[in-house]
Amino acid sequence: MKASVIGTGSALPKTVVKNDDFKQWVDTDDEWIYSHTGIKERRIAKDETLISLAADAAKKALADAGVSGEEIDLIIAATFTPDCFTPTLACMLQNEVGATCPAFDLNAACSGFIYALDVGYRYIKSGAAKKVLIVAADMLSRVTNFSDRGTCVLFGDGAGAAVLSAQGEGNIIYSKTEAESDTKFSLRIPGLYSRFPLNESLPKEESVVSMDGNEIYMNAVRTMTRDIKKALSESGLTISDIDYIVPHQANSRIIDAVAIKLKMLKEKFFMNMPKYGNTSAASVAIALDELSKSGMLRKGTHVALCAFGGGFTSGCAILEWAK
Ligand code: COA
Repeated sequence: MKASVIGTGSALPKTVVKNDDFKQWVDTDDEWIYSHTGIKERRIAKDETLISLAADAAKKALADAGVSGEEIDLIIAATFTPDCFTPTLACMLQNEVGATCPAFDLNAACSGFIYALDVGYRYIKSGAAKKVLIVAADMLSRVTNFSDRGTCVLFGDGAGAAVLSAQGEGNIIYSKTEAESDTKFSLRIPGLYSRFPLNESLPKEESVVSMDGNEIYMNAVRTMTRDIKKALSESGLTISDIDYIVPHQANSRIIDAVAIKLKMLKEKFFMNMPKYGNTSAASVAIALDELSKSGMLRKGTHVALCAFGGGFTSGCAILEWAK
């Protein structure tokens, strides 16, 4: 059985927070943030909830695919910042889109969309599902320490979605996920935090992101380069066959380094982190939706999706655009 991405959608909060807005919390400025990360601004949820963003993205993806919620056989939601831990985001989405199928969440941090795509792809390939809705959504603002300038400027909130189907031409030509135990806990959020915090007395540092930025940076460059090379060798493609790479939108300098290691033109890397920052699991999904709606993709265009995240998780998928 073949599997295809037949529709995409995304949703962002309305509130824009620009780099210089962080001066109210920490000692920083636009020049440092942009030159070190490529980020100019990000969206932060004020009125939105995770389910409102995720449902908006999911409905857009279903409309783009021309598929109704009733036709969906499985919903997978990738997040680590849910509104609540049960019902899961995927079960809440079931109601929002009018589906009656199995639904579950997965947590692979910033690699969440690639992990969800990989699981959905394998359900379809095995014949266990014909249509799968995958949604990747995170609100990192819930777990951001706004007094830590090394992390607070990096993240944003958002959601992205895709519909996978057995009925397309089979445009997912490769998909693989990886994980390596981060024994140093270089990227960690130890505490429980949700829309309704369970323990208000939890020390702040136990419920927010803390990070060894340099360790993550080196790991990100290494794993993205390795995963793309492995994807090419296992799919029988070469670098020149790839028209676009949609990478996790964490930092433009990470992408510059990967482009140099792969000897690939930086222009082939689709980037929207100047507008949204790092939206964690949603990042690749939002970027794929924007690339798909941009008119830059033609039938036969090869797009490689690639992410890394806490855990450490990573993964790569290659699509041969069929629309
Ligand atoms: N504004 C101004 N100065 C800042 C700053 C900010 N927002 N954040 C850090 N600095 C300062 C540091 O305090 C340090 O100052 P010091 O030399 O006086 O001690 C200096 O800038 C250099 O810090 P450093 O951490 O070495 O900067 P860097 O060039 O490594 O960039 C990151 C930091 C976080 C941008 C970079 O390491 C990175 O992007 N890592 C990957 C993070 C990531 O992708 N996380 C998500 C994974 S899914």
